[in-house]
Amino acid sequence: MEQGSLSMKMIIGNWKMHLGIRESVAYARGVLHITVGHDVLPEVVICPSFTALSEVRKVLVRTRVALGAQTMGTERFGAYTGDVSVAQLDDAGCGFVLIGHSERRAMNGETDAVVNTKMKLIAQTSLVPILCVGEPKAARDAGNAEAYVIGQIHEALRGVTLSSSSRLIVAYEPLWAIGKGEAATVADVVAMHTAIRNALKTLYKTIALQVIYGGSVDGAHAYQLLREQSIDGVLVGGASLKIHEFEAIVNAGREVMTAQNI
Ligand code: 13P
Repeated sequence: MEQGSLSMKMIIGNWKMHLGIRESVAYARGVLHITVGHDVLPEVVICPSFTALSEVRKVLVRTRVALGAQTMGTERFGAYTGDVSVAQLDDAGCGFVLIGHSERRAMNGETDAVVNTKMKLIAQTSLVPILCVGEPKAARDAGNAEAYVIGQIHEALRGVTLSSSSRLIVAYEPLWAIGKGEAATVADVVAMHTAIRNALKTLYKTIALQVIYGGSVDGAHAYQLLREQSIDGVLVGGASLKIHEFEAIVNAGREVMTAQNI
């Protein structure tokens, strides 16, 4: 698939470790409410906690909102107490899975090698990986942001076989912009997304690649980000837990798609 052929914008809500089952179901209904009745709609994905996946799935079935998981284990099955395999996520109705989120890299030992193992497991399923990358402040200050992020992507994809029907979402989430209330500038995001596409030039001619941004995205500036051609979507943490903020972000996606005739 050629670059640009998947031009629909994408909005992903990462609920992190928030909401119980009943709250998640209620909130998923709220998200559905935002999306119904619109011809033009970005692709919307919500990623609840594991405990809420199956109940939220029931709400989302036959709707235009998809289900994603926040992480996965590194083995197919077996004696791995507490882990959840990609096959189990598939079974639970997930179409997407986040891997390499910076919070898991920092707090759960998710190294590049672990991310690579997960990529290989996902490649054998129909789930779509949302590969999270992003540089710490020190790397940006030292002028190494692009090298850092491209390095993470190369490590994640090392030896991974992707076919022409494969879809890959790369989520650029600079560490210094996550949960800070201040997103990276549009110019910085565009520059990084361009570098990511260039690094994957040969690959993205054969797979469906989307590059999205995450880090303090809110309803107020989502439009500025989403209107950029190189920003295929946004990965939203805190603001995805406030229904009006999330609605504003989804609406920004709709506005951009309408204005750009997508
Ligand atoms: P915030 O939107 O809260 O900054 O979180 C971003 C994030 O980590 C999404 O995965």
